[in-house]
Amino acid sequence: MTPRILIAGNWKMNGLGGDGLALVRAVAQSVSAEALKCDVLICPPATLLREAKGVIAGTSVALGAQDCHTDAKGAHTGDISAEMLKDCGCGFVIVGHSERRTDHGETDAQVRAKAEAARRGGLTAIVCIGETLQQRDAGQAIAVVTRQLASSVPDGANAANTVIAYEPVWAIGTGRTPTNPEIAEVHGRIRVELTTRFRDGAEFRILYGGSVNAKNAAEILRVEHVNGGLVGGASLDAQSFLAICRSAV
Ligand code: PGA
Repeated sequence: MTPRILIAGNWKMNGLGGDGLALVRAVAQSVSAEALKCDVLICPPATLLREAKGVIAGTSVALGAQDCHTDAKGAHTGDISAEMLKDCGCGFVIVGHSERRTDHGETDAQVRAKAEAARRGGLTAIVCIGETLQQRDAGQAIAVVTRQLASSVPDGANAANTVIAYEPVWAIGTGRTPTNPEIAEVHGRIRVELTTRFRDGAEFRILYGGSVNAKNAAEILRVEHVNGGLVGGASLDAQSFLAICRSAV
């Protein structure tokens, strides 16, 4: 069975109380009013999670965070555990986003440990992988993605507790996207790796991320083995985000 499309909004470090919650409300109201053919997830900054949970209560919009620590609790100033995110009402957490890999030097091993922590805390991990432009230009995209997938996804992963997000680093926030055949090649390879390694590998959702917008979403979502989108910039505008959600058919 083809996995149901998931459209996930990654707000990154954006959103202050009033406007942020207004955006949550706008998404929640529209999603409730329409019979969308996808699941919808928003990942606001940690500061808005608990209030956002109140706003989406009773709707089908799911809530996620953008990172978690590997431990459940302890002396880690400034960090947030998967258990805390669960306590705030989250069902998902993004781990290994390229911005965290770059800004915080996160390695595949750390990302894997975070995905394990997510499972321990009862969250579904969205594990991000993707090559840089230099790696793509050197013909290494498939090798890099395959290696990251093998090293970042824990053995205990299954289609319920793990989502894969393929996000070419050079496509994030740049307005550039790979061609459909390029996306198809990477997603096809990820699917092969997942089915080889996991019994339910055919059921994992594989999201594409990187400059998804209202214009290109329909086309990208039609690519084989693309089971949704991880949307950054366009998720900060309710109309754009909803237009992307409506592209799922
Ligand atoms: P973008 O970001 O849609 O702004 O390119 C995607 C992401 O980083 O998840």
